[in-house]
Amino acid sequence: MKAIFKNPSQIITVNSGGLNYKRGREMSVLNPLIEHSVVVENGIIKDFVPNSAISKISAEMTFDMKGTIMLPGLIECHTHSAYAGSRSDEFLNRLKGATYEEIAKAGGGITSTMQSVRNSSFEELVKLLKPRIAHFISQGVTSLEIKSGYGLSYYDEIKLLQVINHFKSASRIEIIPTFLGAHTYPPEYKNDHKGYLNLIINELLPYLIKNKLTEHVDAFCEETAFSSEEVDKIFARAKKLGYKLRLHTDQFKDVGGLDVAIKHKVLSVDHLEVISDENLSKLAKSEIVSVLLPGVSFFLDHNYAPARELIDKNGIVALSTDFNPGSSHIPNLQLIMQIASLKMKMSCEEIISAVTINAARALGISEMSGSIEIGKQADFAAFKCESISEIIYNIGINLNKYTIKKGEVIFNNPEIQ
Ligand code: NIG
Ligand code: FE
Repeated sequence: MKAIFKNPSQIITVNSGGLNYKRGREMSVLNPLIEHSVVVENGIIKDFVPNSAISKISAEMTFDMKGTIMLPGLIECHTHSAYAGSRSDEFLNRLKGATYEEIAKAGGGITSTMQSVRNSSFEELVKLLKPRIAHFISQGVTSLEIKSGYGLSYYDEIKLLQVINHFKSASRIEIIPTFLGAHTYPPEYKNDHKGYLNLIINELLPYLIKNKLTEHVDAFCEETAFSSEEVDKIFARAKKLGYKLRLHTDQFKDVGGLDVAIKHKVLSVDHLEVISDENLSKLAKSEIVSVLLPGVSFFLDHNYAPARELIDKNGIVALSTDFNPGSSHIPNLQLIMQIASLKMKMSCEEIISAVTINAARALGISEMSGSIEIGKQADFAAFKCESISEIIYNIGINLNKYTIKKGEVIFNNPEIQ
């Protein structure tokens, strides 16, 4: 099927000249096209034609994009959206002075959500996740990563990944499931780290890839979670089995996660709120994407990751919500983009690269997504505004009019005429 998306005021291509990521200064170069329309065939971008020439092109469908700026569909590359229960009680305790780490040490935090997930059925978890995915779609998100990590047992991690996988066919966007069994030690293994590592390494990792429940493995390298030696063991096995790797590291303490990440050539390192200058320089030179999560800093009232330094030293930076019930209860990627501008001093252009091509790279999907280029999937977010600065300036307002996945309009914002 052939379709034309005609007359947008601009097409922000985020073309990276074949690299499929942008580092340092390149993040500011979005390569916009004006007075052009996009031709799509069978869900793939076929051509760009000058508006003056569209009458010569025949197509089964024509979409009028007048008054919109077309961006690549946004890529949300780091979420913990599959969970049950609420942690509003912890939120209130934090307002009274308790810290996130103190709450975790006292048995709250991730363990509390784990209890809620273990007590929920597959059907209940599906029902909870469905509107969260719809909410991301309304913002212009066309690819969404969702981690497990709140089951923390053989049965419950599989259940959670089955819930996430259900939405590969039940939602209209691309869902990327990630196994985060190494999120924290569950209570029954608190004094038996070897036993839990054995469960992950020898049972879950082989089962999940064999049963096609995920191709991605993540871990939380932190004093209160997994040591760098423990992550090293998990990653060594995961890599042998063919998984792609990611790592939560340097959120509260640097416990050597970055070196393990570099050693195993992970796709991304995520968080980095407390990264040292020495590690920052190493990371900025590498091919690894730094996924920054300013929603966590905002929600926990904590320090922000050094986005400016990473970009100024030529790093590859992406942004994400880290949406989860404890450290970033913010299911809004546009708000994260706005916080990144105000609190991390990223420019509008850098922010757009960070939630498109670089976020796609963090997921290993940037050959087909993350930019508007011939041969890539026709995934677009069309914002009703005159300049990209409006997307950042209108804090808390969704200017996304259409979300388009593989050439089909899957969301049309009724609030925007
Ligand atoms: O990315 N850092 C670890 N995991 C999540 C928090 C999960 C939770 O508190 O439930 C994060 O911040
Ligand atoms: Fe996270």
